[in-house]
Amino acid sequence: MCRMTGNRAWRLDAHPRGEDFASALTLIDLPEPVPAPGQVTITADYLSLDAGTRMWMTPRTDSYQPPIPLGSIVPGQVLGRVIASQADGFAPGDLVRAFGQWADISCVDAATSGLVKLDESVADPLLHLGPLGMNGWTALVGIEEVGRTQPGDTVLVSAAAGATGMLAAQIARILGARAIGIAGGARKCVFLTEDLGLDAAIDHRTPDVAAAVAAAAPGGVNVYFENVGGALLDAVLPNMAHYGRIALCGLVANYAEVQPGPARFDQVLARRLQITGFFSPDFAHRGPELTARLRTWVDKGQLTMPFAVTDGLDNLLTAYAGLFEGTNIGKTVVRVR
Ligand SMILES: NC(=O)c1ccc[n+]([C@@H]2O[C@H](COP(=O)([O-])OP(=O)(O)OC[C@H]3O[C@@H](n4cnc5c(N)ncnc54)[C@H](OP(=O)(O)O)[C@@H]3O)[C@@H](O)[C@H]2O)c1
Repeated sequence: MCRMTGNRAWRLDAHPRGEDFASALTLIDLPEPVPAPGQVTITADYLSLDAGTRMWMTPRTDSYQPPIPLGSIVPGQVLGRVIASQADGFAPGDLVRAFGQWADISCVDAATSGLVKLDESVADPLLHLGPLGMNGWTALVGIEEVGRTQPGDTVLVSAAAGATGMLAAQIARILGARAIGIAGGARKCVFLTEDLGLDAAIDHRTPDVAAAVAAAAPGGVNVYFENVGGALLDAVLPNMAHYGRIALCGLVANYAEVQPGPARFDQVLARRLQITGFFSPDFAHRGPELTARLRTWVDKGQLTMPFAVTDGLDNLLTAYAGLFEGTNIGKTVVRVR
């Protein structure tokens, strides 16, 4: 256990209703933590805000992570500098990334928090929370290994203007596929085709999304990188090509409740589809190898991502709600200092 000595942190006091995070979380003052043996303290430059954390804020115990206990600090990825270390290989001042807390200062176990010292030659340290971190790994593994994307495939990506989806769609193109992105609103769709160079974009607010997918992918979708679920998955299933693969990355349409199966499940049989869920902690140990490959594309300018930066730990909840309201383009982060 860390001994505490000034720090602010977001505590989960109740299970949020919808996107009303302000009624469920409180920014509290804590003493500054002091690391115990095997631990380091990190002063956060940036916090990564991730849609999946919403599910851990519910009481459900059937998720891929146990629920966050009420009364505890919300966990999350932190990018910052080591303040004090009682762990081998880490010293004050090191630039690190770890699974810490929504706080000014995180205290983490070196062995279990994914703590890594980061390459300071990377031009923008924020890249370590985007293409060169968990979102990049998830996109690469999902497109290449789970989706088994081949050159010439038609790849469809939902939440394609968000962090994980944007990287997945660009990687599909790098691997020689035709990439179509789904996003909410004209501004995001223009971004996908004009700025990212995707082959087509579909606005999920359009009245007949299934018809829009059929028009954009007349030969069917070979790989669907799914981030959303719900009605969107039902619109895509009848538009899958035979022997298509669905890389099930996320179900952001509704993380607060149990999601029923898709209404068009019959298409899995009719089109001989494979649906495979995957989760980044399962391949986090491959981080160095995956990061090295992603970096070659980042350095060549083939893999890009804007950051939706909110200033101040006290403004975190507004930024977090934006992930579900769709206000962000690219990776959502909070600049803490
Ligand atoms: N399996 C894994 O290991 C793993 C790892 C990282 C992330 N993920 C998943 O990847 C997905 C994206 O997460 P992220 O953290 O990168 O966030 P993000 O994509 O940057 O932001 C979430 C986006 O989801 C879209 N969205 C939200 N509610 C929606 C709805 N009801 N219908 C359609 N689109 C909706 C919004 O974009 P629009 O404006 O376009 O609606 C929003 O910008 C999530 O499902 C997350 O759980 C999974």
